[in-house]
Amino acid sequence: MRADSPILLFDSGVGGLTVLAELRTVLPEAPVIYAADVAGLPYGAKTEAEVAARVCGLLGRMAERWQPRLICIACNTASTIALAMVRDVLETPIVGTVPAIKPAAALSRSGVIGLLGTQATVRQGYVDRLEAEFASGRTLIRHGANGLVALAEGKLRGEAVDPVAVREELAGLLAHPLAERLDTLVLACTHFPLLTEELGAQLMEALGRQVALVDGAPGIARRIAALTSGQPLARSGPDRAATTGSMEDWQRLAPALARYGLEHLDRF
Ligand code: DGL
Repeated sequence: MRADSPILLFDSGVGGLTVLAELRTVLPEAPVIYAADVAGLPYGAKTEAEVAARVCGLLGRMAERWQPRLICIACNTASTIALAMVRDVLETPIVGTVPAIKPAAALSRSGVIGLLGTQATVRQGYVDRLEAEFASGRTLIRHGANGLVALAEGKLRGEAVDPVAVREELAGLLAHPLAERLDTLVLACTHFPLLTEELGAQLMEALGRQVALVDGAPGIARRIAALTSGQPLARSGPDRAATTGSMEDWQRLAPALARYGLEHLDRF
């Protein structure tokens, strides 16, 4: 194992940076490549077949080019649809990001838990299985909020987040007959922790109290650290951020990417 063999984090856009931030705290010395399929963004509005084809195809080519020691699919939509398929075709260890229903169920006192993801994520059988295993006897209110992805992308590009737009994205969740008892919300899309303050403020306004927001990223980072434990880790250059989209758009994100330690920007 070469010490500079990278950990590859993959998402459709900037959402996976929330996983990278947690990874930096547990493995600050790990060489990282962050890859965003911006040409395919948003995954949440695509069919299962479209997401699976893009993710399997891109990760196969990326693994060949960069020889990563481990791949993290830092996207709930891609993971809940394509994790098993990617594991079938690649020999590289793969860590997925799947909705943190287990810790949320342990945390909730009222037994009413929200699951905020993309429309594609909330309808997956993977989520049915997590719910049956970890949240039986609880109420899981699933809500697809695709519009939050664009708001999070805009925020990292320096745009203001419109609170009315955030409220509209949460309206379907809060319209559920048991929403009054909601005390815990799973952020089942890696983009959503970028909007923690905005989401917390809208929930406070609607319910008059705080709702615990559960992000799976710290657990994902610990899993990556466990799987790479004992391996040599050393950078041979600056960490890279690659996009399948245009370089012009990617350059607009340069200040945000630099905050996550990604200083070499290129196109895949
Ligand atoms: N970040 C992705 C996720 O975790 C979704 C964003 C998209 O819709 O492409 O689900």
